[in-house]
Amino acid sequence: MTNSPFAPDCLKGRTALVTGGGSGIGFAIAQALAGAGAQVVVASRKADRVAEAANVINAIGGRAMGVVADVREPEAVQAAVANAVDTFGGLDILVANAAGNFVVPFADMSFNAWRTVIDIDLHGTFHCAKAAYPYLKASSYGGRFIAITTMRALEGWPGCAHAAAAKAGVMSLIRSLAVEWGPDGILCNTIAPGPIGGTEGVKRLYEEAGQSTGVPLGRLGRGEDIAQAALYLCSDASRFVTGTDLVVDGGRQRGQRGGE
Ligand code: COA
Ligand code: NAP
Repeated sequence: MTNSPFAPDCLKGRTALVTGGGSGIGFAIAQALAGAGAQVVVASRKADRVAEAANVINAIGGRAMGVVADVREPEAVQAAVANAVDTFGGLDILVANAAGNFVVPFADMSFNAWRTVIDIDLHGTFHCAKAAYPYLKASSYGGRFIAITTMRALEGWPGCAHAAAAKAGVMSLIRSLAVEWGPDGILCNTIAPGPIGGTEGVKRLYEEAGQSTGVPLGRLGRGEDIAQAALYLCSDASRFVTGTDLVVDGGRQRGQRGGE
């Protein structure tokens, strides 16, 4: 991790839950939030993955806990949030990062393939919002709800029509929540990463699919690039920012218009 421009105690006292926080972008975000003083709960399906992530964070002086939850199951998400609240005394930040995706031409996409991705990405984010709302509303810091999306959702995404539709739904949901929850002091935003090196996403969607990443800044993103954006949206620096999509893609979406 490069040095963060955010103070190491800027999120002290806050509790964050990161779905899919045991790998890739979610793990980078969980580490950064812990590094800024937050207590962090990482939640996903695999017990060993979330335990290992929490161990790594605790070993470097953070406070973290792993919780098993499949975001497709509302009761599991409710239980994960309740566990976070019982352990750390509240919930101030929820990062809906968990997702599933794979490349499949629409003609070959089974009904269950479509349903599975919509369930994880869109319904999973909805379940997080429902479970977290009362606690985010009660947060003395002002609650933060962040979803990880992609601008591919708005561009059309051949080979990933299910994920594009799901993420477009997530972006719309966040915009609605920003308005409905504004009076409750809860800021709701999305982060739209470009291709982030070393992640399952880049492996599946670019490397295995033989796709060029086309990043004008000339490199793949790093987990910490997204983590710094998340820190900004969780910190007091973003106190007047809600309902927006923070695109952190090295210019990829603009580069697409150049006719790659
Ligand atoms: N191509 C076509 N169809 C696929 C597929 C692929 N590569 N991978 C899964 N499917 C289909 C399955 O065949 C199944 O449909 P069917 O019942 O009609 O056969 C459906 O999708 C569900 O698959 P299953 O393996 O039962 O789902 P799961 O709940 O165990 O796992 C996934 C969810 C499929 C999204 C899995 O890839 C996953 O766990 N992903 C998490 C990590 C990830 O995607 N990271 C990238 C984030 S950008
Ligand atoms: P990843 O490492 O595969 O992350 C996905 C995480 O979600 C895993 O930790 C996984 O853990 C968890 N997960 C999957 N299904 C789940 C479920 N049903 N319930 C709970 N947790 C579940 O992939 P990533 O590339 O870092 O992607 C992270 C996020 O960034 C996703 O929202 C993705 O769409 C977005 N994104 C990624 C890129 C990129 O370049 N990588 C670009 C744009 C956007 P378990 O297997 O333990 O459940």
